[in-house]
Amino acid sequence: MSEATPDGVSYPSYLALDELLSLQRPRSQPVHPDELLFIIVHQASELWFKVILHELDAVVASLAKFDAQRALWHVGRLNAMMRIVSSQLSSLELLPPQHFLQFRSFLGTSSGSQSVQFRAIEAASGLREPHFIAALEAHGPVPEQVKKYLDQPTLQDHLLGLIEHEGTSVKQLYVGPGPTTLFFLAEAFLEYEQGFAEWRFKHVQLVERVIGLGTGGTGGTLGARYLAKTVSQRFFPKLWEARGEMFVSG
Ligand code: HEM
Repeated sequence: MSEATPDGVSYPSYLALDELLSLQRPRSQPVHPDELLFIIVHQASELWFKVILHELDAVVASLAKFDAQRALWHVGRLNAMMRIVSSQLSSLELLPPQHFLQFRSFLGTSSGSQSVQFRAIEAASGLREPHFIAALEAHGPVPEQVKKYLDQPTLQDHLLGLIEHEGTSVKQLYVGPGPTTLFFLAEAFLEYEQGFAEWRFKHVQLVERVIGLGTGGTGGTLGARYLAKTVSQRFFPKLWEARGEMFVSG
C-alpha cells in the first residue's frame, strides 16, 4: 500500500498542538508554579483513559467473536497502558503538601471522582457492586457513556462465554493440560485487574502523602479512607475463586 502524503499536514496540525497546548489553564491567583504539573497529570491520565476505553472495546469485540488470540493481544496493550497511567502518579508524589494547600481552594468541588471515563472503564471492566453504583450516583444522573457499559455484559461474562464456547471450564484452565491460549488470556486479565488495583493503591498513597489520611476530598468523600476501600474491588472474582477452590479440594 503506498503512503499518501496530503499537502498541508504537519506535526503541529496533525496533532492539533495549538489547541492541545492551550488547554492547560491554571486557576490559582497568582498562578502557583506547581499547578501546571497537577493539571497535566490529570489531563494526560484522561487521554490514556480514552485510549484504554478504546482498547477495552476491542477486547470485547474480539471476545464476542470468540477470537482468543486477538483478545490476548489487546489485553497485552491494555496492560501496557495501565502501567503508564500508574507511573504518571509518581510525578505528583513530589508535590509538597504545603504547595498543594496554596492552590487547592481554586479547585472548588472538582474531583477525580467526577471522571466519567474512569467510571466508564470500571463499568466496562465489570464493577456492579452497590458501593460502585453509589459512587456513580453521587454526582447526579449516571452519564450515558457509563450507562452504556452498565447495560452490557462484563469482561468476566465475555471470558466465561468464550471458555464455555471452547468446551472447557475455568478450573480446567488451571488443572488441565496446558498452558493453553485461554489460560494465557485468563492470566492477562488478572494482570489487568492487578494493574488497575495498583493504580488505586498508588493513588491512595499519593492522596495520603499530599493531603493526609484524615482529610476529606474536594468531591465530598472521606478522602484516603474512602479510596482505600476501593482497592479490593474485583473485575474477575471467578478467576480468583478458582485458585482458592483448587487448594480447598487439593
Ligand atoms: C495531588 C494529587 C491528588 C489528590 C490529592 C487526589 C485526591 C483525591 C481524593 C481525595 C479523592 C476521593 C474523592 C473526593 O472526595 O474528592 C480522589 C478520587 C479520584 N481521583 Fe484523585 N487525587 C489526586 C490525583 C489524581 C490524578 C492524577 C488522577 C488521574 C486522573 C486522579 C483521579 C481520581 C479518580 C478517578 C478518583 C475516583 C476514584 C474512586 O472513586 O474510586 N486523582 N482523588
